[in-house]
Amino acid sequence: MRLLAATTLLLYAVSFAGAAAVQSRALGDQCGGLPTRFTWSSSGPLIGPKNDSRRLSAIKDPSIVFYNGSYHVFGSTAHATSGYNLVYINFASWDQAGSAAHHYLDQSGIGAGYKAAPQIFYFAPQRLWYLVYQTGNAGYSTNPDIFNPRGWSTPKFFHREVPKIVRDNIGNGYWLDFWVICDSTNCHLFSSDDNGQLYRSQTPISQFPNGFNEPVIAMQDRDRFKLFEAANVYRYDDKYLLLVEAIGGDSRRYFRSWTSSRIEGPYQALADTEQNPFARSNNVIFSGAGWTTDISHGELIRKGYDEKLEITPCNLQYIYQGLNPNSTGNYNSLPWRLALITQTNSDC
Ligand SMILES: *[C@@H]1O[C@H](CO)[C@@H](O)[C@H](O)[C@H]1NC(C)=O
Ligand SMILES: *[C@@H]1O[C@H](CO)[C@@H](O)[C@H](O)[C@H]1NC(C)=O
Ligand SMILES: *[C@@H]1O[C@H](CO)[C@@H](O)[C@H](O)[C@H]1NC(C)=O
Repeated sequence: MRLLAATTLLLYAVSFAGAAAVQSRALGDQCGGLPTRFTWSSSGPLIGPKNDSRRLSAIKDPSIVFYNGSYHVFGSTAHATSGYNLVYINFASWDQAGSAAHHYLDQSGIGAGYKAAPQIFYFAPQRLWYLVYQTGNAGYSTNPDIFNPRGWSTPKFFHREVPKIVRDNIGNGYWLDFWVICDSTNCHLFSSDDNGQLYRSQTPISQFPNGFNEPVIAMQDRDRFKLFEAANVYRYDDKYLLLVEAIGGDSRRYFRSWTSSRIEGPYQALADTEQNPFARSNNVIFSGAGWTTDISHGELIRKGYDEKLEITPCNLQYIYQGLNPNSTGNYNSLPWRLALITQTNSDC
């Protein structure tokens, strides 16, 4: 999640025609269990700020696991002037998402001040939940019980400081959107810089959360908007799916996708263009006029909840942040809400 978005503010007044143009998948258009074209249907907004003394403008950047009969959603809270912290919400079914309690994680060891864009997973070797988040550096807290919002530890960091390769490439961007996934030997930490670089560092599983090496550039684009932020990496079958959020020619957010047999890559295009995106306003159907033209920061609902980040490449569901395209105002005051898209062209 980026801090500021001066470059895109201008365009919030523009409405995007053709949002309902839907692509259909050709028969036999398969790529190792995932199609090479995607179509989705979207819910309306399901989770937004409570009308309470916090006076939040938005709930953003969701991460989700289904564990022990409940969905567990972690997100960023945005306030027009005081900025970002984290929230935890759990519910047994989506029809309860809007009424579920919001637990503000500044009341835990995570504490007040700038924290955003969480990722949740259970690190099975240590029997601990990890919440990874951005706080200027790559931060994390741990908790033995995901149901206990007060149980999160004080922030620690995966890297001692902003790594040199990030400092050398970041330009006017931000180092953000940290994402951990482990294979059978290593844990990998992905991050973005809002300047066209996707970074990856790694550490042996036995040393996690310590020992991360200097990052390498995992993927790069000269056009920073094409490889912007909010990367997700998942395991499916014997492969890995990489999603990265981009900013389209309409200045709206969407997701591109690639696959690889290794977390390290190299990654091959799956559905990676504005015309054939992973998820964008042109392959998502809404009931009625769409409430958003941004399909922005979020994540897939996984098969499990541990550090392997496995998904079943079938009937995908992705929780995302969207925004009424008529919204105006400074970036931190925009009314982002969380919603769910469900794949409509699954073969299985
Ligand atoms: C928010 O809460 C306040 C105080 O309880 C109430 O006066 C106001 O009408 C509420 N606003 C909305 C939009 O529900
Ligand atoms: C899982 O849910 C059951 C039933 O609600 C509860 O008794 C149990 O304590 C929960 N386990 C964990 C680890 O939260
Ligand atoms: C945005 O504003 C236009 C013009 O007033 C209106 O027709 C449209 O329904 C609005 N869109 C949303 C999503 O509210």
